[in-house]
Amino acid sequence: MIKQKIPIFGEEEAQSCYDYIKSGGFLTEFKKTQEFEKLICEYTGSKHCIVTTSGTAALYILIKCLELNSKSSIVVPNLTMIATPNAVEAAGHTVILCDVDHDSFTLDFDFKSKPDVIIHVSLNGRAGNIFKLKKYCEENNIILIEDAAQSLGSFVDGKHLGTIGKAGIISFSPPKIISTGQGGAIITDDDDLALKIRKFKDFGRERGGHDIHDEFGLNFKFTDLQSCVGVEQMRKLDGRVEKMKQIHRWYKEYGIEIEGTSNQEGWTPWFIEYKTNKRDELQKFLKEKNIETRSCYPPISSQKIYSSESNLNISKEIANKILWLPSSVNLTREEVEMISIQILQ
Ligand SMILES: Cc1ncc(COP(=O)(O)O)c(C=O)c1O
Repeated sequence: MIKQKIPIFGEEEAQSCYDYIKSGGFLTEFKKTQEFEKLICEYTGSKHCIVTTSGTAALYILIKCLELNSKSSIVVPNLTMIATPNAVEAAGHTVILCDVDHDSFTLDFDFKSKPDVIIHVSLNGRAGNIFKLKKYCEENNIILIEDAAQSLGSFVDGKHLGTIGKAGIISFSPPKIISTGQGGAIITDDDDLALKIRKFKDFGRERGGHDIHDEFGLNFKFTDLQSCVGVEQMRKLDGRVEKMKQIHRWYKEYGIEIEGTSNQEGWTPWFIEYKTNKRDELQKFLKEKNIETRSCYPPISSQKIYSSESNLNISKEIANKILWLPSSVNLTREEVEMISIQILQ
């Protein structure tokens, strides 16, 4: 079976964990985690990086630390992973679902009323209209944050996704371009916000090892053991970015194109998407050929807890047609050729 996406760890990750434990490290976050965060800052060009337990936690913490009035309205695209609206709900705010743009699959501008916050989700590394959105937010006093969970390695106009709004989040869950098992990060240039986030994820205290809590907080700390893996994975990121671009070029050569990305220099595919009217039949057929695929997330408005009779038609249409093809970084040209032939026959 060719898997849709598998995380890949090597000897370097294993050796680093072994050496760390042998050296008697603390396991919880400390110097290794600082090294991991520094590598993410250098790669993304962000001033601060704060790692945490997951991408979902990162988004939740970020929203909490924006210090909004309770039940503020937060715009979320209808085409995203459920973690995006769930983080908004968990933080006590109101999810406003918005349709996506037909060309870029990212948030459209059709806001019925002025929200307090907009979350741009760079689905599959797509920037879409983010700079226009940023301008709109600045002009209308709206906070723009980025769910760049899928976008490590993706740039637009020289800027890494997640660094265009006030802050952004990244995920390190197993299917991502690098993984620490679970894990996430918040990136921002805002000193006050970064400090607040650091305190929030450590029980609201200013520094470890003392028990005066001047703010509310919980425990969303990372571990140095995960950072041993993360540091080694970051060292492989440039190679993986190149390989993902190569895999996409191979698919393209064999007739599989990804929509909504052609104008974005610096884009790195995360999943290879295939849009088809016969998605479910194709998925079944490929499974019989030992090729694993995954269907795109259903639109948020179709999920039970968010169900609404909305006319968010573009996101519904896209979500029903997208199939995620095998996209692991160890995929070979021969495998890509074989998969493409099966799809297009
Ligand atoms: C767009 C988006 N946001 C948030 C998340 C949540 O990240 P995590 O799985 O690390 O909690 C994901 C995970 O795939 C995602 O794709």
